[in-house]
Amino acid sequence: MKAKDFVERFAVERKNTHAVKWDGMVEKFGNNDLLPMWVADTEFKVPPAATTALEQRIQHGAYGYSIPSDGYFEAYANWQRKRYGTELHPEWFRFGGSVVESISTLVQTLTMPGDAVMVMEPVYYPFMNVVEKNNRQLVVSELQRNGMHYTMDPIAMQHEMNIRNVKLLLLCSPHNPVGRVWREEELTQLLDICRMQNVIVVADEIHHDLLVEADKFTSVLSVQDGFYRDNVVMLDSPSKTFNMAALQNSHVVIPNPQLRERYDAYVDQLHASKGSLLGQVAAQAAYEDGADWLDGLLNTIRENYATVKDELADYRVRVGELEGTYLLWIDMRPTVDPVNLERFMIRQAQIAVDFGKWFGVGGDGFIRMNLATTPANVKRAMKQLTAALDTYEE
Ligand SMILES: Cc1ncc(COP(=O)(O)O)c(C=O)c1O
Repeated sequence: MKAKDFVERFAVERKNTHAVKWDGMVEKFGNNDLLPMWVADTEFKVPPAATTALEQRIQHGAYGYSIPSDGYFEAYANWQRKRYGTELHPEWFRFGGSVVESISTLVQTLTMPGDAVMVMEPVYYPFMNVVEKNNRQLVVSELQRNGMHYTMDPIAMQHEMNIRNVKLLLLCSPHNPVGRVWREEELTQLLDICRMQNVIVVADEIHHDLLVEADKFTSVLSVQDGFYRDNVVMLDSPSKTFNMAALQNSHVVIPNPQLRERYDAYVDQLHASKGSLLGQVAAQAAYEDGADWLDGLLNTIRENYATVKDELADYRVRVGELEGTYLLWIDMRPTVDPVNLERFMIRQAQIAVDFGKWFGVGGDGFIRMNLATTPANVKRAMKQLTAALDTYEE
């Protein structure tokens, strides 16, 4: 589907709908009148098939305890196989509520209090939060930046894993906020090191359908034809792809039977969430019938990315690479002193973004801007940002 048709059919006003992004800015930004380009969800209605499936379920009118449908796994497995060549087996698969909840459950299952858990910063900040709130030691490996291109630093990671006795790595793949879609060679090198160091990898692949400039995604489950499967847990969800975050339905994939047994026992102990009926109804329909809708979303993100690059071409700020995710990383430091950045974005540009420093080491002075919105919102954001840059004084 073309971007124009997608936007015409699916763009939706979210202000005054209890949306965190639109109606929940006061806590972080002090007022609700900014143009919101922060929280990672979209201004688009879900695929029509998902709406129809939800409507039918709602017409039925009863929401008692339920079991997942027989067709769910098949719909998801077909999607993964056809689009990415990722093979899944039903026995590896579990439902979760949210991905971050599953990360926390896995940290608790697979490590002990005081154990070391590694993250690669700058990264989605709940990773650090989960490690610290669970009283594990946070070990940070900083991504290497060359211009706006980021790479891992496997040699330094191995050294650090060794001396800090790291037990678990939280991998973000694709990587929020730097927009990398890790190549198979990069993942091979990383997974090899983790295997040698006895470090289990929990890979959050929630953004993997959002391939903007990348033409290929390799899941940790498929690296070297699945060679590292026994050492990885893969987390995924339809929430970013189809704008279903509030439906609380996600996936936990654990090929290793021993790890799976430990996970199952711990989830039983916690009585943790195993997803939601409406989340599953919507997601199954989207996996079965949402490919054309997703093409429309991706074309819209590509168009918005081109707009930003165009509008900022004559400015000194540096626009990130967007191989994947709809979250654009921008280095504001060539123009805006990091100490003034919040005031600049909130008071002058009047745009709500995620500030780079939230993402840890290497983030200060950057912003993360969500492009999964209408081209009109992106144009408005660029107008406000360039006007603020034009008049910026230290
Ligand atoms: C890498 C990553 N993981 C997880 C999430 C949140 O997922 P959930 O709402 O299922 O916890 C996000 C949302 O921005 C994300 O970027």
